[in-house]
Amino acid sequence: MVLFFLLNAIFSATIAGAVTVYSQVPFAAASTSATSSALGSTYTGLAAYDPTVLNPPPIPSPLPPNQFGIQLSNNASDVQGLSIPLSGAFLGFSVEMSVADQVLGRNSSLLQVPFLNLMALVTERAGRVHVRVGGNTQEYATLVPELSDYKIIAKEQVPGETPTDTPTLLYTPDILYMMANISALVNTKWYLGIPLNDTSHLRLAIAEYGERILGDNLLGLQVGNEPDLYARHDHRQPTYGPYDYFGEFGLVVAAMQADPNISVLNNLIAPSVATGDWTPEDVWNTGFIPAYTNSLSILTVEHYPDDNCAALYAGFGAPKDPQTEFANYLTHASGRGIVQPYLNSSAIARAAGKPFVMFETNTASCGGFPGLSDSFGAALWAVDYALQMGVGGFAHALLHVGGQDVYYNPFTPPPTNQSSYHQWSINPIFYSVLAVAETLGPSNNSQLVDLAANGDNDYTPAYAVYEGGTLARVALINYMTDPSGANDYTANISVDGGVPQQVYVKYLLAPSVGEKTNVTWAGQTFGGRFESDGRLRGNMSVQTVACDQAANSCAVTVPAPGFALVFLSSGALSESSPTSTATFPTTVVTGHAHAASVDPSALATSNGHGGMDAGAGSTSKGSSGGGKAAGVYPSVAVLVAMLAGVGVAMRASASQWP
Ligand SMILES: *[C@@H]1O[C@H](CO)[C@@H](O)[C@H](O)[C@H]1NC(C)=O
Ligand SMILES: *[C@@H]1O[C@H](CO)[C@@H](O)[C@H](O)[C@H]1NC(C)=O
Ligand SMILES: *[C@@H]1O[C@H](CO)[C@@H](O)[C@H](O)[C@H]1NC(C)=O
Ligand SMILES: *[C@@H]1O[C@H](CO)[C@@H](O)[C@H](O)[C@H]1NC(C)=O
Ligand SMILES: *[C@@H]1O[C@H](CO)[C@@H](O)[C@H](O)[C@H]1NC(C)=O
Ligand SMILES: *[C@@H]1O[C@H](CO)[C@@H](O)[C@H](O)[C@H]1NC(C)=O
Ligand SMILES: *[C@@H]1O[C@H](CO)[C@@H](O)[C@H](O)[C@H]1NC(C)=O
Ligand SMILES: *[C@@H]1O[C@H](CO)[C@@H](O)[C@H](O)[C@H]1NC(C)=O
Ligand SMILES: *[C@@H]1O[C@H](CO)[C@@H](O)[C@H](O)[C@H]1NC(C)=O
Ligand SMILES: *[C@@H]1O[C@H](CO)[C@@H](O)[C@H](O)[C@H]1NC(C)=O
Ligand SMILES: *[C@@H]1O[C@H](CO)[C@@H](O)[C@H](O)[C@H]1NC(C)=O
Repeated sequence: MVLFFLLNAIFSATIAGAVTVYSQVPFAAASTSATSSALGSTYTGLAAYDPTVLNPPPIPSPLPPNQFGIQLSNNASDVQGLSIPLSGAFLGFSVEMSVADQVLGRNSSLLQVPFLNLMALVTERAGRVHVRVGGNTQEYATLVPELSDYKIIAKEQVPGETPTDTPTLLYTPDILYMMANISALVNTKWYLGIPLNDTSHLRLAIAEYGERILGDNLLGLQVGNEPDLYARHDHRQPTYGPYDYFGEFGLVVAAMQADPNISVLNNLIAPSVATGDWTPEDVWNTGFIPAYTNSLSILTVEHYPDDNCAALYAGFGAPKDPQTEFANYLTHASGRGIVQPYLNSSAIARAAGKPFVMFETNTASCGGFPGLSDSFGAALWAVDYALQMGVGGFAHALLHVGGQDVYYNPFTPPPTNQSSYHQWSINPIFYSVLAVAETLGPSNNSQLVDLAANGDNDYTPAYAVYEGGTLARVALINYMTDPSGANDYTANISVDGGVPQQVYVKYLLAPSVGEKTNVTWAGQTFGGRFESDGRLRGNMSVQTVACDQAANSCAVTVPAPGFALVFLSSGALSESSPTSTATFPTTVVTGHAHAASVDPSALATSNGHGGMDAGAGSTSKGSSGGGKAAGVYPSVAVLVAMLAGVGVAMRASASQWP
């Protein structure tokens, strides 16, 4: 047996020559017609830092009207097409198991402080955050009591296997203690997965230990990751079909029932089809739901609307041009088109009394597209897509997080050997998670409706949010880029029974849909590449818009490009807006051990939200400034550099293309 550290796998010339899944080299082949990128197609470094900047698509023709009315009922009972009640924790994260030791922490006593800060930003707005640790690499995971050098994860390549085979992932129980420790600091709820590569040798340790260590913080256990692709990926015989999966799921249920160390038997998650080679209906048609209803807690699918596989592997045809693909994302039709095939399944799940969850998604599989997946355009797309999922009956959705060799990460820790001088990189799509959290708020009782605004124009979508049955917020998107301002639009919002005196507006802004770093949400930012410790910088800024009560109109302008969240009352604003930012500066660096700890005082506020002064609507107290962050963070950076040693955060999943 040869123990491969990821680093070796990535940079070893022999393996790179074989074009393995670990190599980022093929990403360099992805060409782009961007003219605004200095480096463009010559970039050969890690995908997560690819400097490609795409041009915004041209302004559509015919031009969408730049003034339109939105007429709203105040009472949800009068509204057709309202979603199920939704939680502000709608968007969470799916972390590839093989990079959990890079993203979450080194081990249970060395947590990644930026990760804690980022999760705290979500919990402050939504009350909780959902994180899945899994993916393709979960399927080959095996628990071992311990690994050398306090590691919690290691990869083991079997001699004779080609490097493109998914390697065995060894993990220790400490990864679960690490997750429990994170939950103790920030209200993080977890999903795990039972390895299903080999149902003749089921490995249930993750269920036994996960349940014991995580308790109520474990939301459920996935059984089978994209089983519709097992045959295609040679993980099963070519004839493997939905009935085979049905049978294998039954084996897991029986094995769990027979395992005295497992007491929770109703928390399984399935079928997580990629809607690649099977539709969810193919699984429903086996009688799956009634057969296993007592074991199933959540019904899931996984999906990426596009793939960049041709840039990575032979057999996928000509590489796709990200600049060409870009326009496909910058329209309301994108989210609608992705969600439409699942409307039948979400209704079936609802009838069965099970939440329906998009368990893994992002802009495109096989790493995403350079300049696209990491753009502000992707952030607008993710807001629209998430809200569309909400309208379409999904209970929530998880954005996938890989390693350094993907473009789509919401957040990326620095490569380990750069962590002494670099901080994290936060992509625009992370801002979408905050924006969606605030759109829905922490009540669990928000219902969405797609307003088909502006004559159902594809470039100016809008949603209304009813909370507890009453109109609370309006979400407005402008997909166009036009620095002249001519394609900013003004939505005239009217409400049956009259508009309030004023409304409050938070903007998600960047100068172009192609922008990668100059992004703000309500005036706050994470800054550029390698610049963030996971805290928002700057003061929160909320615009107050005076309404014309005589005309029953609140005129809200949405820049091109931009997203505006309109709060129809100060209550609707304050419940989504944190008043104090719980942060996790490192407080202890001791001797050679370099133990990081987290400020326990942060515990008191980590789940807090609300309380903004009624009507004030301008700033929040206690926002942390960038200067302070810079003063605190480097100790952590040094620490991680010293401790993380060999590993480099690399997405190691063999594939997840649909
Ligand atoms: C928007 O409202 C203003 C007055 O507040 C009015 O002058 C204008 O005509 C309205 N536009 C539309 C499209 O309703
Ligand atoms: C909304 O409408 C329903 C049915 O017309 C009514 O029972 C309810 O009281 C209304 N809610 C509010 C807040 O007005
Ligand atoms: C499943 O994965 C385990 C590693 O955890 C490996 O030992 C086993 O050989 C695999 N089985 C199959 C059928 O690939
Ligand atoms: C963190 O994990 C360790 C196990 O490694 C445990 O002993 C410790 O109590 C945990 N700390 C918290 C705050 O949960
Ligand atoms: C499983 O149960 C045995 C005894 O029933 C116990 O010794 C062992 O620690 C348990 N393991 C786990 C992971 O709970
Ligand atoms: C919905 O799914 C069920 C179960 O697979 C199937 O029988 C039915 O035809 C589907 N309906 C639509 C409209 O696709
Ligand atoms: C980091 O590690 C990679 C891979 O070994 C290497 O190519 C790169 O030069 C290193 N960078 C620094 C700054 O040491
Ligand atoms: C929202 O739902 C979660 C999960 O059921 C629950 O823990 C939380 O307390 C709920 N929040 C509110 C405000 O009811
Ligand atoms: C950042 O974007 C804003 C518009 O969103 C623009 O006003 C500002 O000049 C930009 N800053 C930089 C440094 O590009
Ligand atoms: C934030 O607000 C405080 C006080 O209101 C002010 O002193 C500070 O300069 C502001 N910071 C920024 C970046 O605008
Ligand atoms: C975490 O790793 C560090 C060294 O990297 C070690 O000192 C510490 O004991 C480890 N913690 C646990 C719980 O294994």
